[in-house]
Amino acid sequence: MKKELLYEGKAKQVFRSEVERQLILSYKNDATAFNGKKKETFAGKGRYNNLISAQLFEQLAGAGVPSHFIKALNETEQLVEETTIIPLEVVVRNLATGSIVKRLGFKEKTPFQPPLIEFYYKDDALDDPIINDRHALLLTDATDAELDQIKRYALKVNDVLHTFFQTIGVRLIDFKLEFGRNHVGEIILADEISPDTCRLWDIETDQKLDKDVFRQGTGDLLTVYDMILKRLEAVK
Ligand code: C5P
Repeated sequence: MKKELLYEGKAKQVFRSEVERQLILSYKNDATAFNGKKKETFAGKGRYNNLISAQLFEQLAGAGVPSHFIKALNETEQLVEETTIIPLEVVVRNLATGSIVKRLGFKEKTPFQPPLIEFYYKDDALDDPIINDRHALLLTDATDAELDQIKRYALKVNDVLHTFFQTIGVRLIDFKLEFGRNHVGEIILADEISPDTCRLWDIETDQKLDKDVFRQGTGDLLTVYDMILKRLEAVK
């Protein structure tokens, strides 16, 4: 049972639950892009992200990556362990596209091997700027050892999900993770992993099956999210 609303973000609401140190994430139907400058509501989007994220967190748990995910409660809500979020967006890239092409001039689809890890400082007023490790140490309370742990987990998530998505004919291009500390101070994966936070391309056709269709206005968000969920359900 949900209790009071603790926090409302662009794509989710966070509620206290009846159990201490457990929270309920409720996935909203809103899609935003460009730090909230573009916004639209898609009936059913929350369900897709909740169910997709739940299945991906289950895969990761099976591979030994600790996360806040406990279980899906229903079609749009999941129960998670309470964490104190470290205000970093951790991006892992396998192929160049998106902001790295615009910012640094990489040719589209340049492969990154080993995968590239970037930190962005989570701050809406600053537009989530890209930062280096020293900035991360100064701007957050994360230690050097914790940043190393975060990077190790980020690469492990990439390995596990890259392989898993291949089994459903999808190429994992890049994605964003967030981490937090649980009540005993361990670093665990938090937030969500969904087509809102990953670039997912069909292996055969390079069709974009993620939020880029909304960001770029090139396709129907619900249609491509449904393709991802259907393919995931087929291997469940
Ligand atoms: O825009 P950019 O190329 O930096 O995005 C890299 C990856 O991080 C993409 O998969 C994108 O969906 C994700 N991302 C996100 N939330 C942000 C910024 C990027 O989920 N605020």
